[in-house]
Amino acid sequence: MSKVSVIGAGNVGATCAENVARAEVANEVVLLDIKENFAEGKALDIWETSPVNYFDTFISGTTNDYSKTANSDVVVITSGIPRRPGMSRDDLIATNAKIVKSVTEQVIAHSPDCIIIVVSNPLDVMTYQAYLTSAKPSHQVMGMAGVLDTARFRSFIAMELDVSPKDIQAVLMGGHGDTMVPLPRYTTVAGIPLTELMDKATIDALVERTKKGGGEIVKLLGTSGWYAPGAAAAQMVEAIMKDSKRIFPCCSWLTGQYGINDLYLGVPVKLGRNGIEEIIELKLNDEEMALLNESAAAVRSVCDVLKTL
Ligand code: NAI
Ligand code: 2OP
Repeated sequence: MSKVSVIGAGNVGATCAENVARAEVANEVVLLDIKENFAEGKALDIWETSPVNYFDTFISGTTNDYSKTANSDVVVITSGIPRRPGMSRDDLIATNAKIVKSVTEQVIAHSPDCIIIVVSNPLDVMTYQAYLTSAKPSHQVMGMAGVLDTARFRSFIAMELDVSPKDIQAVLMGGHGDTMVPLPRYTTVAGIPLTELMDKATIDALVERTKKGGGEIVKLLGTSGWYAPGAAAAQMVEAIMKDSKRIFPCCSWLTGQYGINDLYLGVPVKLGRNGIEEIIELKLNDEEMALLNESAAAVRSVCDVLKTL
């Protein structure tokens, strides 16, 4: 029996759970929340779509009973408060660090062998928190940000060029914040380098929109998005459960790659049944490397805040 658990049945957690169930990559999905009956209600509502949306992965909910998550193959942590207008992701640190720590302890107590995907913000630092608390090997603890951020970049490129988003591939590195580093040089449209299809000013504008993509949704909705974040986290779950060796930008523990040590940061990786099976080292030029170092410094400064809590 294979099982995926999603902690936090809010906007992102429920959307992720639904996407995982619909992908039929596990026998069972368990949704857990601290709010009484919330996960039970969301899970039942999702299960009632199964005859319509045609899936048979059973999904159930629980109010904080971690025994129901026991022996999960993958656990996605989405519990925590989201951004409100005027807040940065980093404003969430004190509240979410406590939540991620206590959730990780309980997850590990029941599923010591699981692979953990963190979604809670500030993403890179919450992933570090889960890594410290779980004491698991770093390839089994990762964060979701790059799949979402590249999806935003790809969707904006699709609109600009009036082409299918299916044909657009992109690489994006760095932290999940305004210093993230989309890489137009490694972005293609059906194999054609983006740099051959768009002028620099247009590319720069799309890069800027991507960096502020989370904030754009917060301004429109009054809270952060969930359809794209939930789908992105589910895509990582699927790659792991199917051992498909897909290459995604994921928040990963660096031990010297790109000259960066002891930091969780977004880099391209190969995802399979063992979690992060390889960190891919691209040849960055001086400008790209400088941007990546700037992003690493920004993440490190938030990690320093974590240490003072
Ligand atoms: P939400 O408020 O809709 O859901 C969060 C859920 O967590 C709530 O249902 C709450 O009851 C639950 N929760 C709080 N403490 C808990 C605990 N100790 N145990 C179990 N459940 C607990 O928020 P939303 O929109 O789903 O966002 C969740 C997190 O994901 C936020 O921190 C947000 O900033 C982050 N996020 C990260 C993204 C990324 O790319 N990494 C993208 C979008 C959101
Ligand atoms: C997002 O990028 C706020 O991290 C959240 O939508």
